[in-house]
Parts: sequence; C-alpha cells; structure tokens
Amino acid sequence: MQKRTIWRDATKPDTVEIIDQRRLPHEVSIVNLSTVEEVEQAIRDMWVRGAPLIGATAAYGMAILMSQLHKQNTELSYEQGKQLLLHSRPTAVNLAWAVQRMDAAITQVSKEEQVAIAWALADAITEEDVSICRGIAEAGLPLIRNIHQQYPQRPVNILTHCNAGRMATVEWGTATAPIYLAHSQGIPVHVWVDETRPRNQGASITAWELADAGIPHTLIADNAGGHLMQHGSVDLVIVGSDRTTKTGDVANKIGTYLKALAAHDNAVPFYVALPSPTIDWTLSNGVDEIPIEERSQREITHITGWEESSQQLLELRLSPAGSPAANPAFDVTPARLVTGLITERGICEASEAGLWEIFPERAP
Ligand code: MRU
Repeated sequence: MQKRTIWRDATKPDTVEIIDQRRLPHEVSIVNLSTVEEVEQAIRDMWVRGAPLIGATAAYGMAILMSQLHKQNTELSYEQGKQLLLHSRPTAVNLAWAVQRMDAAITQVSKEEQVAIAWALADAITEEDVSICRGIAEAGLPLIRNIHQQYPQRPVNILTHCNAGRMATVEWGTATAPIYLAHSQGIPVHVWVDETRPRNQGASITAWELADAGIPHTLIADNAGGHLMQHGSVDLVIVGSDRTTKTGDVANKIGTYLKALAAHDNAVPFYVALPSPTIDWTLSNGVDEIPIEERSQREITHITGWEESSQQLLELRLSPAGSPAANPAFDVTPARLVTGLITERGICEASEAGLWEIFPERAP
C-alpha cells in the first residue's frame, strides 16, 4: 500500500499526488493536483479528507498557487486563490492554520523567493504531521498497555468513529496511531469500527486500513456502540478531532457526541487524539462557536457503493424522493464528556488548565 497520502513526484514539478479516497477501499486511484482549483475541489469533494490531511493539502495548494502565479497561468490573484482554499471546508481548523502559516511565510520574502519558500514550507508542514502523529502514538500507547496488563488474557477492545487513521493524516493517523503502535509491540487489540453514516469513512477507509495492517477489527452499525458498551465489550473509545477549543470541547464527525454520551453512561474512558494544529486557541465554547459544515442532502438520501460486476461506484436512492434531509457533518462533544486529550506532547485533561499544562506557551 502507498505509505503516504500526499506526496511529490520529482518528475512532475509544481504538482502533488494524492489518493482519491472516494474510491477506497475498492480502488487505489492516484490523482495529480496541479492547480489551486483542483486542490480546492479535492478538499471540498473529499478526495482528500481528515483534518491533518486537509491541512497538508491546503499547504500544497498555496505552493501550487505560487507556481501558477509565477508562470502566469492562472486568472486568479494571490488573494483569490488563498480565499478559495480557505473556504473549501469550514470545520477542520488545520486548513486555516496551514493557509495562514503559508501566507505569513510567503508575504515575508521577496517575490523571487516566494515559490521556493512556499514549496519548502508545504513539505515541512507535511513532514511535521508525520512526526506529530508518531508523538500521538507514543503518548496514547500507555492507555492501551495498561488495559492489556489488567486483562492479559484477551485483546483490548477499542471503539473508533469515522476515519482518524493514516488516510486522514499524512501517515500514522491520530486515533489509530496508538493502536498501530500497540499492535506492532505485540499487544493484542481489537477495534470496533463505526461504519460512520452518511459517507461511511469507517466502513470504507478505517476497516481497509486496519485490514491492511493486520489488526483484528469488526465493523458495526453506528447505533451499536451503546449496546456494546453496556455489555462490557468496549474498554476504551479513541476518536479524532477536526477542531478542539482551548477549553477542550471537541468537534468531530457527526455521531461522536452520541458515542461520548454512551461512554459516559457506561464509565468507558473516552479519549480524543489530536495534533496541536487542531486546537483553535481563539475559541472557548465549541457548541456555539465551531462552524459545522452542512453537506449535501444527497449524502443522506442516497448511498454509494461498489458494483462488483461492473467494477464501478454506484449511487442508489434510499429514501422517498419527496423527503427532505439534513446533513450536519460534524458535532461537538463538550469537554466534560472527554476523559482526556492525546496530543503529541502527551495526554492532558480536556480543559483550559489541562491544555496549558502541556502547551505552557499558550498560557497567559
Ligand atoms: O469529513 P471527514 O472525513 O474529513 O471527517 C474526518 C473526521 O471527522 C476525523 O475524525 C477528523 O478529521 C480527525 S482526522 C485525524
């Protein structure tokens, strides 16, 4: 399997390559992105997805924009291209974080240096994500190891939602990073994979990743988690995040909040794994302040799957043609339901004080 989710090919300058995740797990289709419009479309239509990968892709989008401007092969101005990227998806803060970081670097240097600086920083942001996710793996590992030491005769049962795995990042993943590390160290793990309606990132991407890594897992309907927790079948929940406030409220894929409620009711530890660029230090109240993406009704009224005989994606209608649908793509889990945040700097309480302890440079 292609190890990274975004990369540069030395033979194709001013271009990045990605996997079109809409076609997973059925086909690993590699796509070149060479204009800022293509990058925007890849983010908006979820060819790439997951907060950290959206951030890395947007960073390369800025570098591609600089190359286009330099070669005068775009009608867009720098500001228009930047705004296009900034508005491609609203919830994952990694996108704005990456674009602003690129903007600061680009606007600080002379015109002649801008293209080279932009590509170098986009590469650096991408490499940084790999080492951050490796840090999350190490920080989260003791949680799994402790449960294993308590119950050495059986696997550690972990439930996850959506795909906060390596396909959501550059490599490793966030929620799955400690799971991969535990597995590689011989700790027996078993993962309950929420299918994650409406786009089924759990069924199509997380299950595929875990199968590829040889990690035992079981796919479940989104509504099964509460039942499994009531029956003692879940030791630990680990999910990802698209934006975490400075007070520890967590936006993640729709349905995460319900998992947190069920975990709370059943005293199952509920952890959120996130890289520091996912923390929005400007926000204090996640429910009121985090922008929640509303996606197309069609993702609810229809379902997409792989037609095996013709080997292509097929979309089928599920609901009556006249029934309207609503499709909020994310929800917010309040900090009080989160047992802890797993970051590259270690695990902390989901609170302002907890985050300040491991990010002292952010404390007043
Ligand atoms: O809509 P998606 O597929 O981009 O949503 C992804 C998630 O919600 C992930 O859990 C989140 O981005 C964390 S990724 C490491």
